Amino acid sequence: MTLEEKLGQLVQRAGGRSKALNSRLDDAELERVRAGGVGSYLHVAGAEPLGRLQKVAVEESRLGIPLLFAMDVVHGYRTIFPVPLALASTWSPESEERASRIAAEEATAAGLHWTFAPMIDIARDPRWGRIVEGAGEDPYLGARMAVAQVNGYQGGNTPRPGSLMATAKHFGAYGAAIGGRDYNSADISERTLQEVYLPPFYAAARAGSGSFMVAFNDIAGVPTTANRELLRGTLRERWGWQGLMVSDWGAIGELINHGVAADRAAAASLALDASVDMDMVGGVFAEDLKAVISKDPARLRQLDEAVLRILRVKEQLGLFDKPMQYHDAEREARELLAPDHREAARVVARQSIVLLKNEGRLLPLDATKLRSIAVIGALATDGLSELGSWRAQGKAEDVVTVLKGITAAAPDLKITSAPGADPRNGDLTAIPAALKIARAADLTILMIGEDFDQSGESRSRSSLELPPSQMELARRVLALGKPVVVLLANGRPLAIQELAEQAPVIVETWMLGVEAGNAVADVLFGKYSPAGRLPAAFPRVTGATPFNYSANATGRPADPDLGKDTVRYHDLPITPLFAFGHGLSYGEFRYSDLAQSTQSVAPGERIDISITVENTGGATGDEVVQLYVRDPVASVARPVLELRGFKRIELGAGQRKRVTFSLTPEQLAFWSPRGQWLVEAGRIDFWVGASSADLRASGSFEISKTHMGTAPAAALPTRVIVSGN
Ligand code: BGC
Repeated sequence: MTLEEKLGQLVQRAGGRSKALNSRLDDAELERVRAGGVGSYLHVAGAEPLGRLQKVAVEESRLGIPLLFAMDVVHGYRTIFPVPLALASTWSPESEERASRIAAEEATAAGLHWTFAPMIDIARDPRWGRIVEGAGEDPYLGARMAVAQVNGYQGGNTPRPGSLMATAKHFGAYGAAIGGRDYNSADISERTLQEVYLPPFYAAARAGSGSFMVAFNDIAGVPTTANRELLRGTLRERWGWQGLMVSDWGAIGELINHGVAADRAAAASLALDASVDMDMVGGVFAEDLKAVISKDPARLRQLDEAVLRILRVKEQLGLFDKPMQYHDAEREARELLAPDHREAARVVARQSIVLLKNEGRLLPLDATKLRSIAVIGALATDGLSELGSWRAQGKAEDVVTVLKGITAAAPDLKITSAPGADPRNGDLTAIPAALKIARAADLTILMIGEDFDQSGESRSRSSLELPPSQMELARRVLALGKPVVVLLANGRPLAIQELAEQAPVIVETWMLGVEAGNAVADVLFGKYSPAGRLPAAFPRVTGATPFNYSANATGRPADPDLGKDTVRYHDLPITPLFAFGHGLSYGEFRYSDLAQSTQSVAPGERIDISITVENTGGATGDEVVQLYVRDPVASVARPVLELRGFKRIELGAGQRKRVTFSLTPEQLAFWSPRGQWLVEAGRIDFWVGASSADLRASGSFEISKTHMGTAPAAALPTRVIVSGN
């Protein structure tokens, strides 16, 4: 390979402008491909157009190296599933994997080899708009969902012929942006980095994610794109991961803005040295590495390594042997929006719904006792918003909106609707018309929140309150004093204290994808008992953020008594509005007979913790059984609670199941001040319950011997066995 051909492999170009896919693939672009100047395209799609482009690369360039086609297929390709924060609310890695698999089937049928997903950044500040793209605040839940997605996309633990290569992003602490302002610095301790932000990445690396994407931001002043220690040291050398590392959009050039590179050549040199292989869109590697290499031949070896890693994934994907296998237009037509994909989207969407509050058990609705329903809110007819901010090839017209879903589910009821107010603007003039139909109806379903463009990349907000028009609409509808069910649509936890005081029923629907309306109707009319759980807490007010259930123990633990000087705000209760893991059901579940297999566990051994869960309600429903732990005396302060196991189980009326969590001492390891995973001897307390704030049974055991841990503790999976009829 010539130097130019090597550099060409490092180049990823945008094949389309923003969401206008393929729009840049003109003759000049084909010439670049013929000359071997491109390794990959993003923002492209379509079996046929990409097949033509691939043919040029394979048949008309000197070396015939195939191109890699990439896109952000984040929660579906054409069949759009719930946004990732909603998928995480299922607490079902199986459902997450299924959604990713279907996305991969559609995307690969449409000519794509590579998705920039899963986004596995832990997010503890809901002001950060990108919290919607991940699995929320917890590293254990985040790690399980990361693995599920990698498996779903790739169909196994390496990219393989015909599969969609996954990207674990954005390595390593993008979600820790100070103040939740997107792209901002992360100024976190080494322990927080290792214990909170890195575990999902370790889990994704172990699951064989073919690529990683580097975060835009810096950690304690070291921009990640130039972070040799983290990228080369931790990820590649210590974790042994050898996949393709792609920069984020233009991020290599941004090293100049960060103030660690004087010019593009210096930026290119830093990124290559850190082991970034591919330059997304920036053109810095292509244009400026040559000069670097002529001055510093050591960089040539690093360039060769980068090229090799790119060629290796192309080989793993089968592109050298069968470059045209992703370009079957008939398969594409068959796969996109296939009926079984839609059906899966409905199943997963209803699993994502979280019942936050159900005072007086207003839900489920009994359609036989109602004559009319008013559906109020602009979001109830906003199909585009149900698709979220990453919608790949999703189309608004594919969406069953909430209004459509309710109308279809209740053909005998009179359904009226009015927008009332739009979350985007402060126009309140349509509210009176909405109140008029609410007055005339037996019940109002009020859908309020954020639209698709109020969360996502660069959509951080300083306020977590509902947009003012939405809260005003809610106040006035609730003031009518008639039965109201509030549906929330949003991409982040919101501070809805006032709403929660006034509204008897609140259902969190996030943004649920193409089957949103059917899923919501299934829950409202009791066809499905909701069982989603919050993957991130809802604060009472914006100023209570960041709040995390898993905070370290302090010298003055928060006490509800205001007279005491403890770690709390004087103007707020010490609890969040809705806790991590919270979610109600139409059923009732009783926890009993906690048992443990041993009192003391040694290195290499396991402890089994078992509990019986019984559905004492009258209908089938799911329960999410959660296991939390605490190390009460260690050489460093440990979190007051940490999730270390969970299982979503289905129980018929009166049915019981026994759930056994099997843990190893290494899952209690912490990052020691010496920079190692350490498991200390001593007592461990544990709780089993229905949320981080609803712990039903507890026990403790001893770890018999201090020893080294092997890996980020939260990344290690707890085995769960479910038995019973
Ligand atoms: C985002 C990435 C995304 C990339 C390509 C960037 O702005 O940060 O998450 O994969 O664009 O669309």
